[in-house]
Amino acid sequence: MDVVIRNANLVDGQRGVDIAIEHGRIAAIGPSLALSAGREIDAGGDLVSAPFVDAHFHMDATLSYGLPRVNASGTLLEGIALWGELKPDLTQQALVERALQYCDWAVARGLLAIRTHVDVCDDRLLAVEALLEVKRLVAPYLDLQLVAFPQDGVLRSPTALANLKRAIALGVDVVGGIPHFERTMADGAASVRILCEFAAEQGLMVDMHCDESDDPMSRHIETLAYESNRLGLHGRVTGSHLTSMHSMDNYYVSKLLPLIREAGVAAIANPLINITLQGRHDTYPKRRGMTRVPEMLAAGIPVAFGHDCVMDPWYSLGSGDMLEVAHMGLHVAQMTGQDAMRACFAAVTSTPAAILGLQGYGVAVGCHADLVLLDAADPVEAIRLRAARRMVMRRGVVIAESPRAHARLSLPGRPDGVNFRLGR
Ligand code: FE2
Repeated sequence: MDVVIRNANLVDGQRGVDIAIEHGRIAAIGPSLALSAGREIDAGGDLVSAPFVDAHFHMDATLSYGLPRVNASGTLLEGIALWGELKPDLTQQALVERALQYCDWAVARGLLAIRTHVDVCDDRLLAVEALLEVKRLVAPYLDLQLVAFPQDGVLRSPTALANLKRAIALGVDVVGGIPHFERTMADGAASVRILCEFAAEQGLMVDMHCDESDDPMSRHIETLAYESNRLGLHGRVTGSHLTSMHSMDNYYVSKLLPLIREAGVAAIANPLINITLQGRHDTYPKRRGMTRVPEMLAAGIPVAFGHDCVMDPWYSLGSGDMLEVAHMGLHVAQMTGQDAMRACFAAVTSTPAAILGLQGYGVAVGCHADLVLLDAADPVEAIRLRAARRMVMRRGVVIAESPRAHARLSLPGRPDGVNFRLGR
């Protein structure tokens, strides 16, 4: 064997097992494996998980915070306007540099697959070309999936549909959309139909920003589910954000959830962003705005949590840590039961991996040896501590390491000081 990881806990509840790795894949998993390897890694009873996956991000905008100014109101619409101000000044080199810097942050945090939307409303397709280059550069260590995203509306922006098709022809993977930003509800519905028909023709997946507002009457997720069903796109379509569902009438939602399930549509909530951007027109009580995560899970709809933004026109914080995303999602959705907290861990690992269609993902014999060793005993503790990523492995090779979270206290009456593992 090339590598053996000893004494690891797994997400499925197995404790103290060994993981043997050969030729970049997991060759065996079991207690006290009697075999030798070129390298032994002692997990020390800590959790070994498949890598984090971010199903919703904007890598063309990341790390641009403050360019050319900050978002004063903090709203989604000012963020879109601000991005419009920045676009003419973008250069391909700066886009690539910022994206590569973010990918370094991601890898250090064990985040090895990202679906990023890329704005196609700039006729130069500068961001598309930059992110295709980034995708090529990071491929050995990070899976980057691109969504052709018509930020200004595929119908509202005159060249957006043609640009979106050009982007797909250049190698962008997924068809995006933003129906709630079209001029009217009818145009929004038409945009969903046009984009789903194009995806069906091309055999592509769909991931739309859908109903990202506090409008309880927004109905684009209904149209997205209808078109997915009509065109036979089951399992290939995702609705991102769906924040209007937070405000919708409960009776209507009781009809909507089975329609989404029937259509095989997945959902992505973006807790950090939803909790900061939504409810901005409210006084008090102020709505949380995040979509109905536990109710969707109970209805059999896959739900992932995305990071969405890191230091860009919409969000001034973030560091590529999907445990921070899971932590916020857990709080906003009040998913505090043991199973619910584990579902939050799945929402940043296995569920988005399935949405992206990643092959060979998981901790099982035959899967890629893409693994993260966390400074935590189990998924709940990992979320609680936003645990350090002790080791990140890609195809059997260690690509990032961080120390355990330790502290040394020097307290009165305890002259030797106290060393301890933070929070454990
Ligand atoms: Fe987004």
